[in-house]
Amino acid sequence: MTKIITLCTSKGGTSKTSLTASLLSYWRKNYQVAAVDADPNCNLSRWLDKGSLKDIPHVAEIDEGNLIQTIEDIGTDKDIVLVDIAGFGNQAMVYAIGISDLVIIPSRPSEDDVLEALKTKKVVENAGKLTRRDIDYQVVLTQVKLGTLVLTHTLKQFDAFNVPLFKTRIANRTIYQTSRFSGETPITAEFSGKASYEIISLAKEIEKLLNF
Ligand SMILES: Nc1ncnc2c1ncn2[C@@H]1O[C@H](COP(=O)(O)OP(=O)(O)OP(=O)(O)O)[C@@H](O)[C@H]1O
Ligand SMILES: [Mg+2]
Repeated sequence: MTKIITLCTSKGGTSKTSLTASLLSYWRKNYQVAAVDADPNCNLSRWLDKGSLKDIPHVAEIDEGNLIQTIEDIGTDKDIVLVDIAGFGNQAMVYAIGISDLVIIPSRPSEDDVLEALKTKKVVENAGKLTRRDIDYQVVLTQVKLGTLVLTHTLKQFDAFNVPLFKTRIANRTIYQTSRFSGETPITAEFSGKASYEIISLAKEIEKLLNF
């Protein structure tokens, strides 16, 4: 059965697209993967079209009304479909969440990101009620600077709202910017690097959650 994973939050710039491209480039070694870019800015499509990730099947779908069909179509013969959503509240987010096996909510350690992550959690819960099933979600902390006070505050806030967090934290590393210029990801640019280690660790947590 195809596993559909949506990366979303109503906050912009939280690493949704970076995580999507990085996870795709790791999983493509062992799985049939595909991506749907539901962001009208088409950042993910531009990235994948540029470098060594070109052969990953992907499609841009900016018409919200067609999104579910597009995800189903590209996922027909795939193990995993990743859906990258724009960083603001939109209907595409609700549709994608509604058919997902897992929703990943990336959040930087900042009060604004936490508030938007909590709003997104609410969208997941409402989509679950609409579809009459529990939709799994988990927050991943991104662009983290270890040992900072703001990280401690962020963890406390998520804990207070009983938000499930991935153990893996994605640190702030310039390789995300540099590799993107050439259409690479930390996985393809520096497989034995620290950023790759974190992506692989996140991928393994997701595999466990989804019983791969
Ligand atoms: N772990 C990281 N460390 C440092 N920079 C990062 C990291 N992840 C992403 N970035 C950078 O932060 C910026 C935003 O990242 P990205 O485009 O992945 O976020 P997004 O959530 O998809 O944004 P949008 O809401 O605009 O779609 C980019 O310049 C990216 O290179
Ligand atoms: Mg994006």
